[in-house]
Amino acid sequence: MFKLFINPKNTKGHINPELQGHFSEHLGRCIYEGIYVGENSDIPNVNGMRKDVVEALKEMKIPVLRWPGGCFADEYHWKDGIGPKEGRKKMINTHWGGVLEDNSFGTDEFMELVRQLGCKSYINGNVGSGTVQEMSEWVEYMTFEGVSPMADMRKKNGHEEAYKVDYFGVGNENWGCGGNMNPDYYGNLYRRYQTYIRNYNPENRINKICCGANAGDYEWTDVVMKTCFKNAEHFHGFMNGLSLHYYTVPNDWMHKGSATEFNEEDWYQTLNKTLFMEELINRHTAIMDKYDKDHKVGLMVDEWGTWYDVEPGTNPGFLYQQNTVRDALVAGINLNIFNKHCDRVKMANIAQLVNVLQSVILTEGSKMVKTPTYHVFNMYKAHQDNELVDSFIESEKVGTEKNKVPNLSESVSVDKDGKLHITVCNLSCTDAYDVETLIADKKISNVTGEIVTGTMNAHNTFDAPDTVHTESFDAEITADGLKFNIPACSVLHLTVE
Ligand code: AHR
Repeated sequence: MFKLFINPKNTKGHINPELQGHFSEHLGRCIYEGIYVGENSDIPNVNGMRKDVVEALKEMKIPVLRWPGGCFADEYHWKDGIGPKEGRKKMINTHWGGVLEDNSFGTDEFMELVRQLGCKSYINGNVGSGTVQEMSEWVEYMTFEGVSPMADMRKKNGHEEAYKVDYFGVGNENWGCGGNMNPDYYGNLYRRYQTYIRNYNPENRINKICCGANAGDYEWTDVVMKTCFKNAEHFHGFMNGLSLHYYTVPNDWMHKGSATEFNEEDWYQTLNKTLFMEELINRHTAIMDKYDKDHKVGLMVDEWGTWYDVEPGTNPGFLYQQNTVRDALVAGINLNIFNKHCDRVKMANIAQLVNVLQSVILTEGSKMVKTPTYHVFNMYKAHQDNELVDSFIESEKVGTEKNKVPNLSESVSVDKDGKLHITVCNLSCTDAYDVETLIADKKISNVTGEIVTGTMNAHNTFDAPDTVHTESFDAEITADGLKFNIPACSVLHLTVE
C-alpha cells in the first residue's frame, strides 16, 4: 500500500492553462494536411482548417499554440506568407524534408486557426536570418490598430481588426539552428530585438520570450540572463519568459529507437530520461533566481516530448512517429512535473500538435486518430487554471538494473468550485498498486475517475483508432480519503468533491 498525502488548504501556486500548450511548425505534415487542407479540399474544413482536428483540439481545451517554428522560424520571412495566395512565394523547406513550401498558410491563416481554436497565440520571430525591422514590422502588422504601413497592409488583406499576440519568441534555438550563437552575443541581440516588439495596444501586452537553453546547458542560461539583466533596472517587461527545450530520446540521437517496437528496458529508459525534466527545471530555476528572484520571468518549456526514429518508410525529414501508452506516461509525468513547478514554469508546449514527434493527433487523408497522448491531455485539462495543492506520494524504485524509476508520480490541484483533481501515473509496466489517499480536513461526498491504460506498446491506428482510450475508473471513499488500485502502465485522473 502506498500513501498519497494531500493538504488542500496549503495551495502552492497557480497552474497556468499554458502548461498544457502545443507547438506547430512548418514541418512534415503538421501544418499542411494535418491542420490546413485549404478551402477547396474534400476534407471537411472551415476556411481551410480541418473540422475534425479543430473539434478534437477544442475538446481538449488547447490553451496556446506556438508557430511557425522551431528551426523553421529563423528562416521564415513573414511577408512571404501574406496577401493573395497565388502571389505568395514558393520555396523549398530546406530544413525539413526538402519539400515545396507554398506559403499558403501564413500569419492570417494562423490567426484564423487560433480564432477557431479559441486559444492564445504564440508567434516565434526570426533572429537567425531576419532583421530587427522585419520582426518589428511583423508585430506592427499583427497588433497595430491605427494607420500605419503594416496595419494598412493587414487591412488590405481583409483583416480590419488587429490580432492579439499573447506571446512572442525572440528567435528559436539560437545556440543551434537559429544562428549558432554564443550566449553573450544572443543576450545582446535579445536586448536589441525585444526593444522593437512594441505594445501598440494597451489591451494586448505581448509576453516576450527569450531563447533559453538546450536541456542541461546551464552556462547558456547563466550568461543570457546575466547579459540581459545587466543595467536593466529601467527596462519594463523586457523579458516575460525564458525557454527551455528538452526532448525524451530513448537511446541516442543516432539510434533513437522505435516508437512502437520496444521492450521493458526501453520503457524504463524512456521514463527515466523523462524524469530528468525535474532536475532541469530545478537547476535552470536556481540560475534564474540569481537574476530574477521574484520569478517574474517564466520558464517556458516550449519544446518537449518523445523523439523516436521515424515510422518506417516515411520521409526522415518529416519526423512522423506513432504514439503508444509509453507516450501517455511521458505526457502524464511531464505534466505532473510542470504542475509541481508552476511557481516558475508558466508555459510548456509539447512538440508537435499533429503528425510530428509526440503528437496528440495523427492524420492520413481524411482519417484522424487521437493518440494516447491526446487522452492524457484531455484528462489533465481539469488542472487548467487551478491552484496547485500540497501533496506527496510514497513510492518505491522499479525497473531494470540499468534504469530505475519511482513507481508513482502525482500532482493535485483545486479548482474554482473547490473540487480536487488528482492525477497519478503508474510507471511500472508490470505491477498494479494499492494507493491510500489521505486528505486533510475534507469531507468527501463524491469521487469520479477516468484512466488511460493498456499494454506498454498499445497504440491507435487508422484501422483501430480506439485501442487506447479513456475509461471510467472506480475509487472507494474511506474515513480519511480514498482507496484505489492503479493498474500497470496507466495515467489516472480523480475528481474529488
Ligand atoms: O521540433 C522539431 C525541432 O526540434 C524544432 O524545429 C527545433 O526547435 C528543435 O530542435
